[in-house]
Amino acid sequence: MQHVQTKFRSHTCGQLRSGDIPRKVQLAGWVDSYRDHGGLVFIDLRDREGVTQVVFDPDSCGKDVHDIARSLRTEWVISVEGEVEDRGADDKGRSLHNAKLATGDIEIRARAITVLSQSPTPPFLPSDEGVSEERRLKYRFIDLRRPDMLETLRVRYQLTRIMRDFLGSQGFWEIETPMLTKSTPEGARDFIVPSRHQPGNFYALPQSPQLFKQLLMVSGCDKYMQIVRCFRDEDPRADRQAEFTQLDLEMSFVDREDVIGVVEKLTAEIWKGILGKEVSLPIPHITYDVAMDTYGSDRPDLRFDMQLHNITDIAHTTDFGVFKSAPMVKCIVVPDGSKMTRAQTDGLAEWAKTFGAKGLAVTKVAATGFDTGVAKFINPVAAQIIERTGAKEGDLLAFAADKPKVVHKVLGELRLKLARDLNIKPKADFAFVWVIDFPAFEYDAEEKRFVALHHPFTAPKDDELHKLDSREVDVVESIKAKAYDLVLNGSEVAGGSIRIHRMDIQSKVFSLLGIDVEAQRAKFGFLLDGLQFGAPPHGGIAFGVDRWVMLLRGTDNIRDVIAFPKTQSGADLMCGAPSSIDDRQLRDTHIRVNLPPKVETPKA
Ligand code: AMO
Ligand code: AMP
Repeated sequence: MQHVQTKFRSHTCGQLRSGDIPRKVQLAGWVDSYRDHGGLVFIDLRDREGVTQVVFDPDSCGKDVHDIARSLRTEWVISVEGEVEDRGADDKGRSLHNAKLATGDIEIRARAITVLSQSPTPPFLPSDEGVSEERRLKYRFIDLRRPDMLETLRVRYQLTRIMRDFLGSQGFWEIETPMLTKSTPEGARDFIVPSRHQPGNFYALPQSPQLFKQLLMVSGCDKYMQIVRCFRDEDPRADRQAEFTQLDLEMSFVDREDVIGVVEKLTAEIWKGILGKEVSLPIPHITYDVAMDTYGSDRPDLRFDMQLHNITDIAHTTDFGVFKSAPMVKCIVVPDGSKMTRAQTDGLAEWAKTFGAKGLAVTKVAATGFDTGVAKFINPVAAQIIERTGAKEGDLLAFAADKPKVVHKVLGELRLKLARDLNIKPKADFAFVWVIDFPAFEYDAEEKRFVALHHPFTAPKDDELHKLDSREVDVVESIKAKAYDLVLNGSEVAGGSIRIHRMDIQSKVFSLLGIDVEAQRAKFGFLLDGLQFGAPPHGGIAFGVDRWVMLLRGTDNIRDVIAFPKTQSGADLMCGAPSSIDDRQLRDTHIRVNLPPKVETPKA
């Protein structure tokens, strides 16, 4: 990295080494720590690039400079001039070099100092541990001074730079799309913006640039990419923010494997560039059906085994009421799970109820047959279950009996919970997998209508198009889509599809989703027009940039990878957003605020 020299500094605080002795240099930064050793004042000076020790010795800097040095406090901003020298040894001949610090062999013998900014005692120091997240977010500008946070911002920048460089080399153009736009259905609520010029009308902030990127393909742009903010008014979670960033891309004249090929090469570049590791390509594919059947999830974490075994047929031969009457019975084998205490295994049933299960049956594999839990009900079929599952003495078996949806949800979550709770060693640091052949539609029993599993612009597989006229739940739910998700360690890190590029098919899909022709024109007329006037076959994908940074940095908190994130209740604690606006702004946008009788102050 080339460093820009300015009137404040010749080098950064992470740059100087023994080879620079006895250069005259100038550094600028924050006072990280301060030690007054009798006559000598030692300052650790910190900037983004590192820390350098500066020593103020009255014999070399003179009394005035030394006096200023003695008045310094942590987090003051200073610029220092001096010479690079070896740290040498103490009176007893012990080396004073600090191997833990990149600049630990040298120090700066100060000659001059300028105080650029003072600071009262800050609410916390960048080096403080255990500061509450609320406080960190309120004073985010101090929190971001922590080397760990700066490293995350560096990795985030490196990531987007690799994305731009690689895709640029493959012929992608970065094209901006509007932020003030019309609602596109990615399934969440829209953030809306009132229009001053058109009273009563609103823009929506984009949930993704989906329709614009498709129309860019209609325009002949051929390959589009954009690192773009998306807005979805949904409750934040550990890996979800209302405002997040995608690497969005779209390509013309492609099929699934072409998009997958580009993404895999980009993934390899990212891993090499940031972690210095190879990704073994091609990344394996698993179908949605197999993923659900085997891992109980459409984003399986393949770092762990604990696959789901279907024992419905065996379970139905027992006298155990719970098993006999259930449409599906599956179990997982927890290696060495017999070590779990009674309290631990009892807790699992309550935990399972939070996922809609009626309970969770467990038993331990003993030398002969099963022991404890539901052993007495299922011991007669122990040999069959052990043969089916490959369970060994010392393992724990956990069973769910219910409708497939519930069984998969509970056991899918249980795998992850037990891997975490029992500290099961992962088979690899990173496990990538493509999940393909998703169902195109799901029946929403509450709303009594079909919904798109990805979005309504996803192409159904060619040999399933004839089913689009059906309204039978089984038939419609059996339609597979040309959709694909990239999953890493159980996190959906990218999702995309081949799109519908024919207007008649798009219109049929809208009808299937209960959008009548009039509503189609009103909501999606521009897309249908685009598809009508010469649309190439096209497809694409979007990466969740924040999630990539989380995985690259090993954090499970999305707020750690965003410079200025929002809290659980959508608040920016630093600037105090959201906030009320003044009457003039309300009048200009023709808005009257109609608060519910009692408004609770949102929690952090
Ligand atoms: P999708 O909705 O799957 O697809 O989003 C793509 C990827 O974005 C990430 N992601 C999020 N990250 C943080 N917070 C959120 N609230 C959030 N929501 C999604 C995920 C996800 O895989 N237009 C389509 C893409 C396409 O079809 O090309 C889309 O937006 O990592
Ligand atoms: P019960 O007969 O309801 O007392 O349940 C006996 C055991 O089976 C308990 O450990 C329950 O947690 C468990 N159990 C109950 N319902 C189910 C279910 N649907 N799937 C798996 N285990 C269950």
